Amino acid sequence: MRILGIESSADDSGVALIEATGEFGRDFAFSVLGNAVSSQDVHASYGGIYPHMAKREHTANLPITLERALREAGEDLEKPAIDAIAVTVGPGLEPCLWCGITFAQELAAKWKVPVVATNHMEGHIVTSMMDFSNMPKGTLAPFEFPALALLVSGGHTEIILMKGPPGGGGHYQYIGRTRDDAAGEAFDKIGRLLGIPYPAGAEISRLAREAREENLPRMSKLTRPMREGYEFSFSGLKTAVLREVEAQKEITEEYKKDMAREVEETITDVLVEKTVRAADEFGVASVIMSGGVSANTFIRENLDRKLQDVGAKLFVCPPKFSTDNGLMIALAGYFHAAKREFADPATLKANGVLKLA
Ligand code: KG4
Ligand code: ZN
Repeated sequence: MRILGIESSADDSGVALIEATGEFGRDFAFSVLGNAVSSQDVHASYGGIYPHMAKREHTANLPITLERALREAGEDLEKPAIDAIAVTVGPGLEPCLWCGITFAQELAAKWKVPVVATNHMEGHIVTSMMDFSNMPKGTLAPFEFPALALLVSGGHTEIILMKGPPGGGGHYQYIGRTRDDAAGEAFDKIGRLLGIPYPAGAEISRLAREAREENLPRMSKLTRPMREGYEFSFSGLKTAVLREVEAQKEITEEYKKDMAREVEETITDVLVEKTVRAADEFGVASVIMSGGVSANTFIRENLDRKLQDVGAKLFVCPPKFSTDNGLMIALAGYFHAAKREFADPATLKANGVLKLA
């Protein structure tokens, strides 16, 4: 089955075409035929996404991104050989989600193919279950249920227990989530306080690495928020950094690096501690980390090491597939399409707070 994935839930327009066969856990295999992402740089100086600006950008970018993906796949732009379209319907920013939905509706009508309503977070989860080592071909990584998923993105920080494969429904159970800001949002908001353009996660991580490499003296000290339970809270961290930054006469490069290291280590400690504790409590052998923040190598390495202590293995996708893209939607969509879980294109609706369970 050839499936086209369309993603527009935040500030990236993504389109990908894959060919996939088989069933989850048995003979599943896929091949990436085309994969294109257009990121929006209009938000860089604002410290966050402006939905209406993002919507305008998606409207302009989606057709261009589709064309790039189809050209890469060597497909006819007017009538490509595809069997279904998977489109993100939530969670995310509704004006942005609608852009992808109307785009998918138009294409489905034009090409007379069915549509799968896809959950963005399931897209992130499924991507981290894959083995991409033989790209453009891929299969499932050696994965076991029940599994735990740590979802960390600009909008989400969640620990989810997965009892079975995607498709078929009913396999997800929320264990914990953030009460306020998401981990990525914390990176981005703190980045803004330090004068780092949005999205700030990757840049904070780079500065933090420099602080470690240069062995800079530790000037800043942040307390680790919420040690108990599985819920997260990151807004206090942002306020603590704000207070520290305001007390500074001058934000030097060195100060920024030191603070970036402290922020990255604080967020890492919290994510790692809770995930490892949950892996132990629920007795899982496989843990997935996914979403934009999972591109962070410091978090990956620490989580991987600490999970080994409780006999669990970490699965993460290559960093280039961690942030939003169309491939993740095509992959997640496939498992539903394979079970004939199609939606009526006319009734598709954006749901900004769509849940997995
Ligand atoms: O999944 P994603 O692309 O979009 C959402 O669905 O939110 O995640 C974007 C988030 C941003 O907050 C960005 O700062 C963060 O992922 N991010 C990172 C890194 N790369 C992206 N955070 C920490 N370290 C990184 N290397
Ligand atoms: Zn995302």
